[in-house]
Amino acid sequence: MAARSYDDALIARDLYRFFRAGEEETLALRGVSLRVARGETVAVVGPSGAGKSTLLSCLAGLDEPSGGEVHVDGVRISHRPETERARLRARHIGVLLQTRNLLPHLSVRDNVRLAQGAVRGRPAAAAEVLLDQVGLGERRHALPRQLSGGETARAGLAVALANSPAVLLADEPTGELDGGTERLVLRMLRDRAEDGCAVLLVTHSPEAVLIADRVIRLDDGQATETGGTGARTAGPDVREVRHGSG
Ligand SMILES: Nc1ncnc2c1ncn2[C@@H]1O[C@H](COP(=O)(O)OP(=O)(O)O)[C@@H](O)[C@H]1O
Ligand SMILES: [Mg+2]
Repeated sequence: MAARSYDDALIARDLYRFFRAGEEETLALRGVSLRVARGETVAVVGPSGAGKSTLLSCLAGLDEPSGGEVHVDGVRISHRPETERARLRARHIGVLLQTRNLLPHLSVRDNVRLAQGAVRGRPAAAAEVLLDQVGLGERRHALPRQLSGGETARAGLAVALANSPAVLLADEPTGELDGGTERLVLRMLRDRAEDGCAVLLVTHSPEAVLIADRVIRLDDGQATETGGTGARTAGPDVREVRHGSG
């Protein structure tokens, strides 16, 4: 990966997200700021309804915050038309959602190739190489419905990594996996961070929290940094957003 002049691949500044459904108004995010450096793994924890999925959607540019900004890989992704957000997401972000990111009528390999086709130029790694890395080389011609739960999780990860993203965002990536597959997926996330990716995962899993350098707790739309669990050396300080570029 080329050298970069900035360390924080993901910066969110003062995010608000307001929902209105009929008479009902919900402030799902109330001024959330965070940053994730290259090579860092951050876990986001918190009770159901705290705003975790809303936060992840805003970070991924799948949703627009009502206020605040998101910068990814030095580029602002928030407050742009949806097509532009999709283009930036394809290039800079890998997304693993609870609803899996596989198209049912395409083979595993063609799912990866489809993701790669969304970005101009040659992919950094061939689909076959990526599938070998997640242990699915032999299953590349399988359709999603022919995969086991663990294989589906790994295929989803291969799609998320299709374009060597600077930022990897995952919503409960190990939620329905058995212990062995969970460890495998977590190790793969950790490996990506070691390769310089900024990894942010929403999770309830104690195992997943253990691989994180830092833990951010969301409660009722507000974030507090609770400090790392010692996976690596990152300190427990809450780092301020100093600037935003792009
Ligand atoms: N599209 C939406 N329309 C209305 N309210 C929503 C929508 N998405 C989320 N919410 C509300 O925002 C709050 C946070 O939801 P969510 O981000 O899904 O929480 P979590 O992922 O932490 O369980 C909840 O009160 C939820 O009902
Ligand atoms: Mg959620």
